[in-house]
Amino acid sequence: MIPAEAGIQNATAQRNNDVEKGSMMKFERNILCIGAGYVGGPTMAMIAYKCPQYRVTVVDINPERIRQWNSSNLPIFEPGLEEVVLACREKNLFFSTDIEKGIKEAEIIFVSVNTPTKSFGAGAGMAADLQYWEKTARQIRDCAESPKIVVEKSTLPVKTSLAMERILSGENDRVYFDVLSNPEFLAEGTAIKDLENPDRVLIGSHETKRALKAREVLVEIYSNWVDREKIITTNLWSSELSKLAANAFLAQRISSINAISALCEKTDADIGEVATAIGMDSRVGDKFLRASVGFGGSCFKKDILNLVYLCRYYGLNEVADYWEGVVRINDYQKDRFVLNMLNAMFNTLAGKRICLFGFAFKANTGDTRESPGIFIARELVEEQAELVITDPEALENARVDLKDIEQHITYLDDPYEAAEGSHAIAVLTEWELYRDLDYERIYQSMMKPAFIFDGRNILDHRRLFAMGFNVFPIGKAPLTHF
Ligand code: NAD
Ligand code: UDX
Repeated sequence: MIPAEAGIQNATAQRNNDVEKGSMMKFERNILCIGAGYVGGPTMAMIAYKCPQYRVTVVDINPERIRQWNSSNLPIFEPGLEEVVLACREKNLFFSTDIEKGIKEAEIIFVSVNTPTKSFGAGAGMAADLQYWEKTARQIRDCAESPKIVVEKSTLPVKTSLAMERILSGENDRVYFDVLSNPEFLAEGTAIKDLENPDRVLIGSHETKRALKAREVLVEIYSNWVDREKIITTNLWSSELSKLAANAFLAQRISSINAISALCEKTDADIGEVATAIGMDSRVGDKFLRASVGFGGSCFKKDILNLVYLCRYYGLNEVADYWEGVVRINDYQKDRFVLNMLNAMFNTLAGKRICLFGFAFKANTGDTRESPGIFIARELVEEQAELVITDPEALENARVDLKDIEQHITYLDDPYEAAEGSHAIAVLTEWELYRDLDYERIYQSMMKPAFIFDGRNILDHRRLFAMGFNVFPIGKAPLTHF
């Protein structure tokens, strides 16, 4: 059991008592979140969980999503989330499609709608698509009948809060809006732990007396469970930019180690040993130095491209080129992985059965947005391979992502069945369960020569080699029998 889950279970009994009492009293604050996605759902569940004195409502335009949040089958898989939601739902946590009513009743509105990369018009493929965010801003303006604190939770380009203020202040002079920036730093798979014990909470605001008062309301909400020293306050633009820059720095570490992994493969250096040697320098630190098949997820690529777009907009082309390189190396790493497979397997994959262990962009989530698995599966099918994909949580999303090439893919829950009869296994997600499989049994069931491409370096490569596998890790010399 992860510590956050243990803490949550211990606290639940006490909390239920408080909520029972809470149901008798008037809630101290009425909080709304627009957008019931990966961020809105867990974030609001944590606020409701930690603050039984507040009423928290999460709304979304997608009725199916809301139905799932109200069901026993939550729309996202996240360790510890179910316990938190079940402890508060229908007590002080509500999921609804009635956005108008939500806006009217709330005094604090978090906006957590999606801000994907724009796929059309100016800035296509780079800039953030702000259409969902702008619709929300207009809806808040049109429905509000009393003053609101509007909190940007979505990741947005610098100066978006200025646009938000302009939209909110037009045509509704009955109501005053305070806009705050409060970017979210949770990572999927560890969202509950991150929310319960964040490294920091960042709140950006103007410096006027009124804005500082609004900021204090948000500080007070978080300080129900987060130490005051961890709640940092900045101006609005620093807050917005810090979120983009933080993701760029994290992704840059992965691209740095992945770039070195390519050199390791040419020189017989071992990326694990190199990463340890680098990471033991306390100025560098050891986190986010795991070489991999490439980073995925809904945030890194989108946010870096957004940063690159902003830099170009301000004429900072050298800065833009620098950060764009992080995405270029990530694409290169995914390309390299497929090319290594092709080279190792005698330059033809046509008609070969290849089994993908994992499709989620990382372990402990069912999310497949920007997963390296999507690119790799498409490239392998392009080479006329037949794919079998297994993943404990992500098969439903994989089916949607690869719908157009479904005739070349079989989806199986059981990794043993998935590997049976295949020429190669490619480990794409670092699920713990893949470490402990009976690889003797798997080897016996595969075509020979049998290959393993470990895109996450989670397996015992020497042991697999001794069993008969040809083993291709990332950033280490391959172990082959020919
Ligand atoms: P998501 O796609 O999972 O959820 C967004 C939700 O907003 C969807 O359910 C959508 O139906 C809803 N929505 C869109 N327009 C709406 C409208 N006008 N009214 C009501 N609902 C509307 O996205 P997400 O992953 O939760 O990300 C939300 C924001 O948070 C993004 O800006 C993202 O960059 C940022 N963020 C995400 C993560 C993450 O790990 N996913 C982490 C930090 C920050
Ligand atoms: C990221 C940020 O970590 C989080 O702070 C932000 O709020 C949202 O974006 P997320 O994308 O959910 O979170 O997961 P993260 O753990 O950062 O992993 C992103 C990708 O990088 C995954 O594909 C992961 O497998 C990969 N990764 C991570 C590596 O390849 N090597 C590493 O050392 C770490």
